[in-house]
Amino acid sequence: MTGWSHLVGAPIEDLPSPAVLVDLPTLRRNIAEMAAHTDALGVALRPHWKTSKVLEVGRMQLAAGAVGLTAATANEVLALAEAGIPDVFWAYPPVGAHRVAAALAAAERTRLIVGVDSLEAIAGLAAAAVANGTVVDVRLEIDTGLGRMGVRPDDAVALARVLHALDGVRLEGVYTHEGHVQGLGADPERRAAVGLAAGRTTAEVAEAIRADGIPLTSVSVGSTAGARSAPTASGITEARPGTYVYGDENQVAIGTISEADTAITVQSRVISVQRGEPVLVDAGTKAMSADGSMHGDGRIGTIVSSGGGLIATGHEEHGFVRGSTGLRVGDLIRVRPNHACGLSNMHSHVFAIEDGVVADVWPVVGRH
Ligand SMILES: Cc1ncc(COP(=O)(O)O)c(C=O)c1O
Repeated sequence: MTGWSHLVGAPIEDLPSPAVLVDLPTLRRNIAEMAAHTDALGVALRPHWKTSKVLEVGRMQLAAGAVGLTAATANEVLALAEAGIPDVFWAYPPVGAHRVAAALAAAERTRLIVGVDSLEAIAGLAAAAVANGTVVDVRLEIDTGLGRMGVRPDDAVALARVLHALDGVRLEGVYTHEGHVQGLGADPERRAAVGLAAGRTTAEVAEAIRADGIPLTSVSVGSTAGARSAPTASGITEARPGTYVYGDENQVAIGTISEADTAITVQSRVISVQRGEPVLVDAGTKAMSADGSMHGDGRIGTIVSSGGGLIATGHEEHGFVRGSTGLRVGDLIRVRPNHACGLSNMHSHVFAIEDGVVADVWPVVGRH
């Protein structure tokens, strides 16, 4: 509950704007469906919690069978640990004194695993753990094609040996983020092939490390676009999709989530029609985030309420609507964001809604 809790029971038309609405039945369905999917594959589910940053949503995911949650930032990890979430994978290198301190503090309250792709990135935390008399679980990140973080598969065994020998840490597993699958766009066959290849590479690396005499428990993949393919590779033990929980326009654009399965929208009000077109609404970049569109047209939001159109661009508090019909000052529109995770970081709370009425108000915690 937040300062808006008096709005529980109110029709959504009474909400302040811009407001993030999370459709509860859709959210419940998304959580149950992904849990059933990973269950059927025989892999553990550890959703990336950065999509919502809402403790209530994380608890719903755990109640549906998730083994733990994944986080990206120090604030997210601390928020989860302080809330008593028992098992957290920090899929981000603990570089810098603030991250070392956050990892040690979190590890006192939760079972923490940290992700790393070099000795340099873990050296500080390892030394601090030794000084503390503790041991921190780590996973080695493998680059399976995204080209962001991660050791090249061919270099993984050598780094695994170094990490295995390091005091203060225990090499627990390997992981990849097959985010390049989303970048393939609306090509389901290519996505399936590239996702499966990412899963296979990760599993092969794990086998090579095990063959070198280092026991590993977890072999983890993670993305929404790759969730139907990467975890199907033999040897994968865990999947970490995040965006699936809310869905967003970028997933709709490439066909990984249907419009009916997107739980999140922003409700915005028309504030000026002086220009005719564009019509101005109160959802600009501060409400929608500046995350790019997979449609390739620079839009910051897609209008899903009657009249259609899109928020073609925006200033901080002004959204520029194009292609919508019949909008007048004071009208409400519903807008699907390009990217759910970026959107969450922009807002202090979301409204959980059911049948057009506010069912709950949830704080968004652990923001930057
Ligand atoms: C390391 C890691 N794992 C999992 C995910 C979840 O991917 P998605 O948002 O496509 O579900 C992300 C997202 O960026 C990530 O960075």
